[in-house]
Amino acid sequence: MHALIVLAHPEAKSFNAQMAQIGKETLEAEGWTAEISDLYRQGFDPCEGQDHFPAPKEPDYFSAQGEQRHAADTDALPPQVKAEVEKLERADLVVFQFPMWWFSTPAILKGWLDRCLVYGRVYTGSMRYDKGYFQGKRAVISVSTGAPASTHGCDGRNGDADMLLWPFHYSLHYVGFTVLPPYYSFSVESGILYSDPSVLHDRLEGYKAGLADHLRGLDKMARIPFNGWDDWDEEGKLKPDAPAYSPFMRHPD
Ligand SMILES: Cc1cc2nc3c(=O)[nH]c(=O)nc-3n(C[C@H](O)[C@H](O)[C@H](O)COP(=O)(O)O)c2cc1C
Repeated sequence: MHALIVLAHPEAKSFNAQMAQIGKETLEAEGWTAEISDLYRQGFDPCEGQDHFPAPKEPDYFSAQGEQRHAADTDALPPQVKAEVEKLERADLVVFQFPMWWFSTPAILKGWLDRCLVYGRVYTGSMRYDKGYFQGKRAVISVSTGAPASTHGCDGRNGDADMLLWPFHYSLHYVGFTVLPPYYSFSVESGILYSDPSVLHDRLEGYKAGLADHLRGLDKMARIPFNGWDDWDEEGKLKPDAPAYSPFMRHPD
């Protein structure tokens, strides 16, 4: 079994970079092979645009999906994207390690999704959701926050953390991944310190051990449920008898 760990953090000695390494070492100790895609240190360009397509289908108007499809069809994917897609293709498990930035991912990781989830290669109109390209592969998010856990519950002032991850989780479901429960490292104070340094140190060490446990326990975890093709009608709306798993996709009140 092979794992890809996608790391989005600008500092090589950061907590997040250490967590990516812990993830790799944990999986290797369990008999996996593992590689890290360290987006900053690879110089990954997160901005999709015309410059990545030197032989465009439409030189006078840039259509991201149009050019992605054309590049996929003509074996002309941008080299950085081709390399990442091939890493995804050889992975049985993908772990995303990143700090929460503005209630979301760092831009470099959002751009990685924009560019590497290539239209025509990893999804098409009919190859999505439970018919997605990456069916059979698992994905799990490991995210750190500066804010404490109490503020990330459903009534917390920073919003329900599970809901904040829904768009990312749903993107993974969209391309066929089985999405497993995330691992949260809350109160990872970095720059703005509230805790005694030894308390913070112990907290971070606890998260490292916790991530290792989380990864060792993946086989026993239930997937996060999402709707699939059978749940929607011709207009793409939930059928009345379909289950609703999230406020993001629910039956009308
Ligand atoms: C640009 C930026 C935006 C941030 N936004 C959030 C946020 O929305 N919620 C939060 O809890 N922490 C936020 N933080 C704090 C980081 O999540 C926190 O510093 C990080 O998880 C610590 O991990 P690190 O030491 O590996 O950087 C933000 C930090 C930065 C730099």
